[in-house]
Amino acid sequence: MCGIVGYSGGKNCVGIIMEGLKKLEYRGYDSAGIAFEETQGLDVLKAVGRVENLEKLVKSRKVKSNCAIAHTRWATHGKPCVLNSHPHTDCKGEVAIVHNGIIENYAELKAVLSKKGHKFASETDSEIIAHLIEEELKKQKDFFKAFVLAVKKLKGAYALAAAYKNAPGVICAAKKQSPLVIGKGDGEYYLASDVPAFLNYTNKAIFLEDGDLAKITPSSCEVFNLSGVKQNRKVNVIKWSSSAAQKGGYKHFMIKEIFDQPQATKDTISTLPADIKKAFGIAPAAAKKIKGLYIVACGTAYHAALSAKYVIEHFAKLPVEVETASEFKYRSINFQKNWLFIAVSQSGETADTLAALMNAKKAGLKTLSICNVVGSTITRASDYTVYTHCGPEISVASTKAFTSQLAVLYSFALHMARQHGVLGKAEFDKLYKEFQTLPELISQTLKDEQSVKKIAKEVYKSNSYIFLGRNASFPIALEGALKLKEISYLHAEGFAGGEIKHGPIAIIDKDMPVVALAPKGSLYEKMISSCQEVSARGAKLIIISNTPTKGAVLVPYSNEYLFPILAVIPLQLLAYYISDLRGREIDRPRNLAKSVTVE
Ligand code: F6R
Repeated sequence: MCGIVGYSGGKNCVGIIMEGLKKLEYRGYDSAGIAFEETQGLDVLKAVGRVENLEKLVKSRKVKSNCAIAHTRWATHGKPCVLNSHPHTDCKGEVAIVHNGIIENYAELKAVLSKKGHKFASETDSEIIAHLIEEELKKQKDFFKAFVLAVKKLKGAYALAAAYKNAPGVICAAKKQSPLVIGKGDGEYYLASDVPAFLNYTNKAIFLEDGDLAKITPSSCEVFNLSGVKQNRKVNVIKWSSSAAQKGGYKHFMIKEIFDQPQATKDTISTLPADIKKAFGIAPAAAKKIKGLYIVACGTAYHAALSAKYVIEHFAKLPVEVETASEFKYRSINFQKNWLFIAVSQSGETADTLAALMNAKKAGLKTLSICNVVGSTITRASDYTVYTHCGPEISVASTKAFTSQLAVLYSFALHMARQHGVLGKAEFDKLYKEFQTLPELISQTLKDEQSVKKIAKEVYKSNSYIFLGRNASFPIALEGALKLKEISYLHAEGFAGGEIKHGPIAIIDKDMPVVALAPKGSLYEKMISSCQEVSARGAKLIIISNTPTKGAVLVPYSNEYLFPILAVIPLQLLAYYISDLRGREIDRPRNLAKSVTVE
């Protein structure tokens, strides 16, 4: 998704802006650009490819400026090229804008503007915004007022920033459905799609809400709604250190984040009270009334939801429906009364998940979100929020957010079981105590990294992989396959162990590594039979278990419903090492974006 960075203050901001753009690289992009104020007015520089290309251009021009807006573009309307990259300007080059999102009525607006004589340089939907502002400025001189009038004409999603030659030091910003946050410094303000872009300079963040319009100058930041009413937005102090957003000595963010998991789950679990009266912000009386759950998410978060279904059904005996958000929103569901809707999302900005949440809200359901990003759109739209406390997840492939989501959902299952009287106090306390050892169990699991690295060396030349699991570990098989395909670009598929004999076994041969998850417990024997079926076809078998099993990578013993949170770790490592051996660009896999803010 596109990234926005802006600055207005007393510093020469070009370096700050370039640094900010680099911090947003995780969002995925294909080109970058900057509009900056200089003595003659506004100037714009753009480059296709990496931010470094833009940086070279900026350095060669010896740019100095106290106010600038900049952008990393992830193409939606029009191919990646200099003309389509942002910032876009009006006909006279006096207004510059950067935009993240999609303007749904752009064709209509473009037709009207064209009739009025506006000339367009790009194929993008975004460019019309600069021309709309230009048009409004013909009617009245105040830049912010003209900006507001232009924004009122837009339909769709936007995080938007604009600068104007005749309003030095002023940045106008607007937000609807795409994230935008303002950083408050001393005599300066920052603007960005995400906090890490300015965290090296300030940890004071003002999260704009949908419908907000902000006027930023070096000394002020005023927020209004579309009707012109002033909005009070609180200044949040962000506790993530800037170094938390760095690689910390690891080769890639992904491997760093895999090793962050003991701390991430520890920080997450420490905020989940064992006291059922305080859990999840849901009053005990309301919790008792919950008769079932819809859990909706995308990608990796969906796999966390799917695994949680087994855990919640097992412990709390509540019915759980899990669906990918992109499908959920199209279903004609006769929503059950007293069912709780749960949205799981690392970023809290995934458009599909947000749309599903809005449908559930419309149907009158209470909503709970499990998110990592404080103040993100999904959290603000939900009745209740529980945060995973992972710190920023920079690698596009999600790892630490996944295990923390599983931890929150496991805790939720135990709490619901207790609230509904399925678990007695003693049993709950015993299970909760075991759950609280999870960070330590993850630490122990990571100690066996070398076994996984060795396996990766043996199998990395294979072009196709299969992952098998049953029950709560079946979604972990799906996640293992997703992780591998995302970052290695190799074919990988996850199946329920019992399903392979119904078809997939046909493709198994000696060139096919098969990863099987076999926790000690009710399904261990069945899983071992699946393993025998595949090894009889010559497959290279990799077993992950928590009980001594021939040739298996062992994770520490825990109950079979905690096992998934440990079993995914060797799978993350396997995906990482196979991809590294293949020389892939692990943190920024092709075609993928960290935060998918369009449906
Ligand atoms: C996979 C991955 C994606 C995300 C998905 C949802 O590694 O990162 O599949 O899990 O796009 O994103 P969030 O959790 O931000 O809603």
